[in-house]
Amino acid sequence: MMLSKLFKSQVREEESGNGNGFHVNGNGPFIQLNQVVKTFKNAAGEFTVLKGIDLDFYRGEFVGVIGKSGSGKSTLINMITGIDRPTSGEVFVGGVAVHKLTENQMAIWRGRNLGIVFQFFQLLPTLSLLENVMLPMDFCNMYTPSERKERAMMLLEMVEMQDHANKLPTAISGGQQQRVAIARALANDPPILIADEPTGNLDSKTADAVFVMFENLARQGKTIVMVTHDSALAKRVTRTVLIADGEIVNEWVAKALPTLTHQQMLKVTHQIEPLSFDPGQTIIQEGEAGTQFYIITKGVVEVVLKRPGGNDVVVAQMGPGQYVGEVETFRSIKAIASVRAGHAPVEAIALEPEEFQQLITESQTTREVMQDIVEQREQENIDHRKEKE
Ligand SMILES: Nc1ncnc2c1ncn2[C@@H]1O[C@H](COP(=O)(O)OP(=O)(O)OP(=O)(O)O)[C@@H](O)[C@H]1O
Ligand SMILES: [Mg+2]
Repeated sequence: MMLSKLFKSQVREEESGNGNGFHVNGNGPFIQLNQVVKTFKNAAGEFTVLKGIDLDFYRGEFVGVIGKSGSGKSTLINMITGIDRPTSGEVFVGGVAVHKLTENQMAIWRGRNLGIVFQFFQLLPTLSLLENVMLPMDFCNMYTPSERKERAMMLLEMVEMQDHANKLPTAISGGQQQRVAIARALANDPPILIADEPTGNLDSKTADAVFVMFENLARQGKTIVMVTHDSALAKRVTRTVLIADGEIVNEWVAKALPTLTHQQMLKVTHQIEPLSFDPGQTIIQEGEAGTQFYIITKGVVEVVLKRPGGNDVVVAQMGPGQYVGEVETFRSIKAIASVRAGHAPVEAIALEPEEFQQLITESQTTREVMQDIVEQREQENIDHRKEKE
């Protein structure tokens, strides 16, 4: 089947223009959250679930949103879909200020621009599968009535459910219902798919099949934001966003120090200082005291040893997600090598030695991992020094 016949759209221009009173925020990221706060009030008082989220999603990304139960994933997703509104802050999707839409504008905008997939499928029980898939087109008055049926059939074919088109949702399995729900989400050819635990209620084999469907849609150019509990699936997306206690964990902290708890990662996120270095600039000077722990976030650094004659020799190169300064901060010793930015600018995040030491006191697994790496790098250092002589 020709997928190109099913999917053409990017953002719907009529909504992005200023013509019908929507508030537009120019170019920039496809989905943008600025300082989003969400506070729920109940009898017990106020409870802030999202604590000032700044987050960007770019066109064509397939992003996994992960985090513990209760961390705020669904609340975050509901800010993007407009299912719920922020207490303060801004949400822009394709340039449209979602937080400013009226309920009526919201329903039409959402129906045309977002495909939403839920954990419990949420097909309408009294409608056939075909009618379920046609519903968003009817609601938003997209395509001609005859095209709607044909398009719904093609979408059911894409998810391999065309033979069941006239059945009711109760007559098919959970995995099949989710495939139909994906077809329904694609009815109006939205540029964005938002899914909250779409595989959460499926066995692992069915979950994998559904995930592959999302992968294919990402390849078709859809921008996908998917909440998942499944760490194996989270490894297969193009980027993961980790949320802990209503805040976003710095992605490089999560990547470089995966053995920390989410709480600890969040603490480090608050402690780190972002730094940038010019090409060739010294980051760590051999022999200096008080070296920080650096996680590289952009560019390449060179680990340099001095030859007795005075020439430098580059013994290692490190890139984004790797760290330097761990030997010095772990051992509380003077720098055993120099580190400098390579031929391009370097960005890094730095942690003070005391903060790093506190961290490895609090996380035994991280300390063990660091211990191994430190011993390995010390040995390499000794070997390189022997080579030089
Ligand atoms: N409408 C609401 N009123 C009051 N509290 C709410 C409401 N919705 C969510 N919460 C609370 O906000 C917190 C975050 O909930 P949320 O559903 O976003 O978490 P989650 O990360 O999606 O969790 P899970 O993995 O279990 O789905 C929870 O403590 C939840 O009880
Ligand atoms: Mg949830």
